[in-house]
Amino acid sequence: MLEARTLTKRFDQTLALDELDLTVEAGEIFCLLGANGAGKTTTINLFLGFLEPTAGTASIDGLVVGDNPLEAKRKVAYIPEQVNLYRNLSGLENLAYFTALAGHGERSDSDLLEVLDKVGLDRSAAERRVGTYSKGMRQKVGIAIAIAKDAKALLLDEPTSGLDPKASNEFSVLLGDLAGRGVAVLMATHDLFRAKEVGHRVGIMRSGRLVDTLSTDTIAHQDLESLYLRHMHGDASPSSTSDLEVAAS
Ligand SMILES: Nc1ncnc2c1ncn2[C@@H]1O[C@H](COP(=O)(O)OP(=O)(O)O)[C@@H](O)[C@H]1O
Ligand SMILES: [Mg+2]
Repeated sequence: MLEARTLTKRFDQTLALDELDLTVEAGEIFCLLGANGAGKTTTINLFLGFLEPTAGTASIDGLVVGDNPLEAKRKVAYIPEQVNLYRNLSGLENLAYFTALAGHGERSDSDLLEVLDKVGLDRSAAERRVGTYSKGMRQKVGIAIAIAKDAKALLLDEPTSGLDPKASNEFSVLLGDLAGRGVAVLMATHDLFRAKEVGHRVGIMRSGRLVDTLSTDTIAHQDLESLYLRHMHGDASPSSTSDLEVAAS
């Protein structure tokens, strides 16, 4: 569903992303971990078509993003750390606007209210100005937009930074639901705990390279943390769990 092939981005002297090969399948949640500057946001921005690759391709549902920017954008929803919504419009009005923008103009209010209800915003919340919303509520509107536009892929850039544990947990549950509907989810995060909880796989990035990829069901929280730290110090080889998978296949 989401596919990067030798995807590379250079900014002047900085190799921000170095030949990334990655596939995120429909229904899969893949979490990108890595220190600030590792290339996570660059990866997401290349999938969104916000940046042009220096080399290689990013594709969504078989469409190369650079060649089909509008169609590709229709297939994807994006949740950054701060979801950009119109503060003076209600959650419902924002959802109607962004769904129409994505080419799904004919959704009735009752349809959209149902979607908002599904993500945990009841009618009274849905009809309030977004300016009064908590961060967690805005993130829920972001998920509602993904559902209403029937996105095939969801890209998230540190979406749970600054959410309290309850809001973060609710958000993780919603991501799991979306994946259950077949959406491919790629999320950059610093939250190792959530990555392990919600992700099917995690990838560790360092200096523009994906240095390790592993299944979350093959590693304990503590081992993920120590593996991550060893990669940050540059003294880990790709994890033994991925070696085991190769050996088993
Ligand atoms: N627009 C830009 N111009 C120049 N350098 C950039 C730009 N965007 C990102 N970079 C550089 O690319 C590298 C990767 O950045 P980024 O993808 O934002 O990392 P992350 O999201 O993992 O923190 C960093 O060295 C960053 O300084
Ligand atoms: Mg970033």
